[in-house]
Amino acid sequence: MRSHLLNGTTAEHYRRSVTEGVERVATKLATTDRPFTGVTVDALSPRIEQIDLDQPLHDTTAVLDELEDVYLRDAIYFHHPRYLAHLNCPVVIPALLGEAVLSAVNSSLDTWDQSAGGTLIERKLIDWTTRRIGLGPAADGVFTSGGTQSNLQALLLAREEAKTDALGKLRVFASEVSHFSVQKSAKLLGLGPDAVVPIPVDQDKRLQTVALAHELERCAGAGLVPMAVVATAGTTDFGSIDPLPEIARLCEQYGAWMHVDAAYGCGLLASLKYRDRIDGIERADSVTVDYHKSFFQPVSSSAVLVRDAATLRHATYHAEYLNPRRMVTERIPNQVDKSLQTTRRFDALKLWMTLRVMGADGIGRLFDEVCDLAVEGWKLLAADPRFDVVVEPSLSTLVFRYVPAAVTDPAEIDRANLHARKALFASGDAVVAGTKVAGRHYLKFTLLNPETTTADIATVLDLIAGHAEQYLGESLDRAS
Ligand SMILES: Cc1ncc(COP(=O)(O)O)c(C=O)c1O
Repeated sequence: MRSHLLNGTTAEHYRRSVTEGVERVATKLATTDRPFTGVTVDALSPRIEQIDLDQPLHDTTAVLDELEDVYLRDAIYFHHPRYLAHLNCPVVIPALLGEAVLSAVNSSLDTWDQSAGGTLIERKLIDWTTRRIGLGPAADGVFTSGGTQSNLQALLLAREEAKTDALGKLRVFASEVSHFSVQKSAKLLGLGPDAVVPIPVDQDKRLQTVALAHELERCAGAGLVPMAVVATAGTTDFGSIDPLPEIARLCEQYGAWMHVDAAYGCGLLASLKYRDRIDGIERADSVTVDYHKSFFQPVSSSAVLVRDAATLRHATYHAEYLNPRRMVTERIPNQVDKSLQTTRRFDALKLWMTLRVMGADGIGRLFDEVCDLAVEGWKLLAADPRFDVVVEPSLSTLVFRYVPAAVTDPAEIDRANLHARKALFASGDAVVAGTKVAGRHYLKFTLLNPETTTADIATVLDLIAGHAEQYLGESLDRAS
């Protein structure tokens, strides 16, 4: 069994195993003609159920054959140009190289004595990101597992900076289309059930600052504490960007911590064409970025950045065995002092490899391409009488609904759209997402693949219309 431990004597076994795995994936990628096979839970689960984990196969090739059957054949492939659903990006090859290196070396980024150069590389990438944002000389941050954790940590710092023990009095303001992790964080942080005040959005799905000002005023008048305002730079459903400069001004006026959730919009930090859309982000107290959304990085790769490094102390605990207090004076850089996690992957290496091979402009160009594609898609939809499209894209998301001229019942139109999404998924021809707008069911494209073309978009729209029409035809038959 020792032959499976990675060390100097097993290097050849490691090389062969990993190469064999890479070969399988490469072949899969080259031969996959749809983003999904349409496999059902009922068809797939018995295949996984019947595997006896106490009966190993002992042979890598046999295990990879089995993996083909239980996973690779029917996985959802984000690299495919007709995967248009959630905020998953195709990944860049330098990052995959980083992934291979980081999992084999297996550094843990909590302490210097488990990572050495890894710690310094992560710190340099944090500095690079804070400079791109413009957070100023005292800025700092740390890599996290994702936007949810970044938002939680930012709000933890905001809660501690609010300097009140009356948790029930704290209020967090966020647009009604902000990410649900804001509410989850409030709960985890022990805030009251009414702590998150939803602020209405305008027709472009941007937080209405007049309403925010009104709520902040009400908060002050009621003796409550405005703990934080969460501005979203790229909402999950619409890609809309809240008016950051105006929100920054209100945060200053009312003494609230400004957090910018740029999990999605952070791609603009590298953009060559659209960086100005997030102007004002430099005034934030904290920022969430998800490199695994718009920097084409594999999951996980995210960070939380703060204007004032000192605020990260709210996440600091010392353990004698790991990061004793004396190490601070010895200037030993232990990233665990800034993180909610202890053992932590060296995810930063993926971004490092990406920047060293492609450069930031390379990433920015890819993201600009998907933003441009969204404009083309929007034009297609706006000109097509079969569809109602909401919100001109600020990033790369399109939300729309099939609206047949002959059908007036909105509930029936809802059902047709829901059916189209399901039927498309079952066919595997394309994968699209869905959401609700004003209580009605809509469909959603999140465009993050520069390989997707306007022709792909047109094809998928025709497929959607076809499935919806078929549903409505059958529904008429059922009624008659
Ligand atoms: C705006 C926004 N914030 C936060 C998140 C959560 O990020 P993660 O899924 O990486 O935890 C998402 C995820 O879609 C998001 O769109």
